[in-house]
Amino acid sequence: MWKGRFAQETSALVQRYGESVSFDWRLYAHDIAGSIAHSKGLLKAGIITAEEQSRIESGLLTIRAEIEKGAFEFQEALEDVHMNIEAELTKRIGSAGAKLHTARSRNDQIATDVRLYCRSSIDAILILTRAMQAALVECAERGNDAVMPGYTHLQRGQPVLFAHHLLAYVEMLERDSARLTDCRRRLNVMPLGSGALAGSTIIIDREFVAQQLGFDGVTQNSMDAVSDRDFVAELLFVISMIGVHLSRLSEDIILWASSEFAFVTLSDAHTTGSSLMPQKKNPDVAELTRGKSARLIGNLMAMLTLLKGLPMTYNRDLQEDKEPLFDSIDTLSLALEVFTEMVSGMDVNRSRTEAAAADPMLLATDIADYLVNHGVPFRQAHEVIGKLVAYSIAEKKDFGDMSLAEFQSFSTVFESDVKACLNLKTALEARKSIGAPSPQNVASQLARWRQTLTVA
Ligand code: ARG
Repeated sequence: MWKGRFAQETSALVQRYGESVSFDWRLYAHDIAGSIAHSKGLLKAGIITAEEQSRIESGLLTIRAEIEKGAFEFQEALEDVHMNIEAELTKRIGSAGAKLHTARSRNDQIATDVRLYCRSSIDAILILTRAMQAALVECAERGNDAVMPGYTHLQRGQPVLFAHHLLAYVEMLERDSARLTDCRRRLNVMPLGSGALAGSTIIIDREFVAQQLGFDGVTQNSMDAVSDRDFVAELLFVISMIGVHLSRLSEDIILWASSEFAFVTLSDAHTTGSSLMPQKKNPDVAELTRGKSARLIGNLMAMLTLLKGLPMTYNRDLQEDKEPLFDSIDTLSLALEVFTEMVSGMDVNRSRTEAAAADPMLLATDIADYLVNHGVPFRQAHEVIGKLVAYSIAEKKDFGDMSLAEFQSFSTVFESDVKACLNLKTALEARKSIGAPSPQNVASQLARWRQTLTVA
């Protein structure tokens, strides 16, 4: 490919080893957008004529249309997406095409392409994240009045609403969306014009080119700009975080779909059978998502490791940023889509969640709070109730079946009204501090999310 300095052809093996077009062809639309903007910069700088610029632009648009139709043949010998498009353009329009690469290097070109790619991917992921939140809110609304135990250490703790549990994930995804937006803002500056590493002696109006591409500004240090992939690592982190959140939800759903819990039913369309055991209905979507989150984390680790030993400035190692990035974006996008569908088909089994929530032990904290409300310091109340629990287990007697005298044998503070705090409904209604799962709070949270998610 390179004439000039080289007397020998590149070895076929080196060509195969170094090519990136087999995967970076996906950047074609961004590469072409970048080239068109650059050609306008060249025109403004007086390097090319208006006629040449228009031939470049229409040539590139034709190539783009052909790629979209699948009618363009990328060649490995031309190494990457940049060379493939530029070579084809020059073949078609001659010397105007050969002027396009003035004051530009593939180093600032790829850095620009990858930023544009990340930016549009973020926009797409934001939409998918929102759809996932909406599906969770709808599922929560369908099961709104279902009471269930809330767990710590996977041991029954206190009563909550099923909806409250699902809304926890809506909160997580909201933070993820904010991270995506933040990452987008930081990456939306244009490296083009940084050249190979030291800019160019041919002065292009970078701000003008940036405007054409919808960038908020331009990078301020050419050496940093060609070698910076912080934004890739940052995006891979946010994607991993979403993956971790989906993985946690997966784990909940896998437990809930088991016969032991049977808190939810997944639709037939989102489960699979076993090749051997005819009774099985497996939550494969959740399991796969839990598994795929490992890949997302792996890609983040690969990216950080790729960057850590790089001397300034551009090094070919950076070509290795693309496959993990593409893989994470593809994997997460599909995971969000399929998860949204699965959650839309998921229903809570009230009888099962309510049977589990009927465990009187869930109200032990409420009895402790009763003592606190009657002036007993919490630490003492905790100990009294601990003993009461031990008694209940030893005597195989629920709190509800104990007499007032039995209560009073643990603390004389107990009055007959202690029985009132043994009611699940009142216990739940009493949890009305901000963020707690009283039905009234949950209803207003659901309304808030409905509002937020439909407005956006
Ligand atoms: N394929 C290269 C990459 O992804 C493009 C930049 C190549 N630059 C170079 N000096 N070889 O990083």
